[in-house]
Amino acid sequence: MKTILVTGGAGFIGSNFVKHMLEKHPDYKIINIDVLTYAGNLVSLEEVSNNPNYTFIKADIRDREKIEEIFSSNNIDNVVNFAAESHVDRSIEEPEVFLTTNIIGTQTLLDVAKKHWKINPNDKYCKEYKEGVKFLQVSTDEVYGALGKTGMFVETMPLMPNSPYSASKASADMVVRAYNETFGMPVNITRCSNNYGPYQFPEKLIPLMINNCLMEKDLPVYGDGMQVRDWLHVSDHCSAIDTVLHKGLDGDVYNIGGNNEKANIEIVKLIVETLGKSEDLIKYVKDRPGHDRRYAIDNTKITTQLGWSPAYTFEQGIRETIEWYLNNTEWIKNIVSGDYMKYYESMYSSIEDVAVSKE
Ligand code: NAD
Ligand code: DAU
Repeated sequence: MKTILVTGGAGFIGSNFVKHMLEKHPDYKIINIDVLTYAGNLVSLEEVSNNPNYTFIKADIRDREKIEEIFSSNNIDNVVNFAAESHVDRSIEEPEVFLTTNIIGTQTLLDVAKKHWKINPNDKYCKEYKEGVKFLQVSTDEVYGALGKTGMFVETMPLMPNSPYSASKASADMVVRAYNETFGMPVNITRCSNNYGPYQFPEKLIPLMINNCLMEKDLPVYGDGMQVRDWLHVSDHCSAIDTVLHKGLDGDVYNIGGNNEKANIEIVKLIVETLGKSEDLIKYVKDRPGHDRRYAIDNTKITTQLGWSPAYTFEQGIRETIEWYLNNTEWIKNIVSGDYMKYYESMYSSIEDVAVSKE
């Protein structure tokens, strides 16, 4: 039986991944560690909470003693590191926690894993590791920076992050790479485009717009709304990580994307139309500082070398996602009744409406 340590498993993608792994690999043991920040929600994991192969431990990835204790009392084969501060707007308001969690937290996990996985941890020249161990770092396409009207991100591109969030994720990628080069640690890095699907925190574009539409609130579109993102259903991201975990070549980086480039305004209008609301709710507001204009993932490497491909079309995925939010109003109500409203007020009340040409 393999034991996988999933970090940040109470967040959006992590909770979907925990459920994916328990279903696809019923012989694996999944240990989920999460410090439960505002973005962590154990309700998202209720359906697996009694699964005998699943354990939750409340822990901070920066807490070396706790991580050490978890490794000492469990025979961990793989780490899949989702734990992070993940929202670009918050990184503009408060960058520091992005650096400590996303960089130091990752390095802490790597260091403890190295100690437990190396055949001879006291020999700095030893590059032999226990059979089957691997550290998988869940990174993002934002580390590449922004694209112009053409071109796509490929794995060999230089990293040019623009926000404190993406700078922290790029730094973590460099540390993971260094542990592979210097210590011979078995690693993979995955860089994925924008995810959407069930259980996403309503600070991100799609759930925020769905929730605001349902509440007949303004829909704040940054700048001219023509920024492009490349959307991937979260279940396709989970299957891609599963694939890289099992088949990824040592030290390699894999881009993950679903070939679904859409301008933000297209998505907002689609949500408005699907929910039968009026486009008058759309408000063009002051742009995000340092806003990346376009992301697009070239997924040739993972599709041709590892045989992964996305199962969802965007049309099916967005329809199911909107339905999910309509059928899970309690889940979203619990979130928006807490600290979320304080965040929402401070984030959006200071953003001015701007006049935008809409042709
Ligand atoms: P999320 O914000 O929904 O979840 C993050 C989780 O990490 C939360 O449960 C939170 O409690 C936990 N966490 C935060 N700090 C922690 C700490 N110090 N110790 C332990 N747990 C901690 O994020 P998400 O959208 O699910 O993203 C997960 C990962 O995927 C992140 O690493 C992110 O950079 C990456 N990613 C996200 C997307 C996307 O579109 N959401 C795309 C590509 C990559
Ligand atoms: O590309 C992968 C990244 O996607 C992940 O690494 C990040 O963790 C994830 O948060 C996401 O980053 P983005 O900044 O692209 O996602 P967000 O949902 O915040 O915004 C998507 C686009 O929508 C972006 O161009 C900004 C715009 N936007 C967002 C919000 C919240 C608006 O116009 N209005 C809004 O209110």
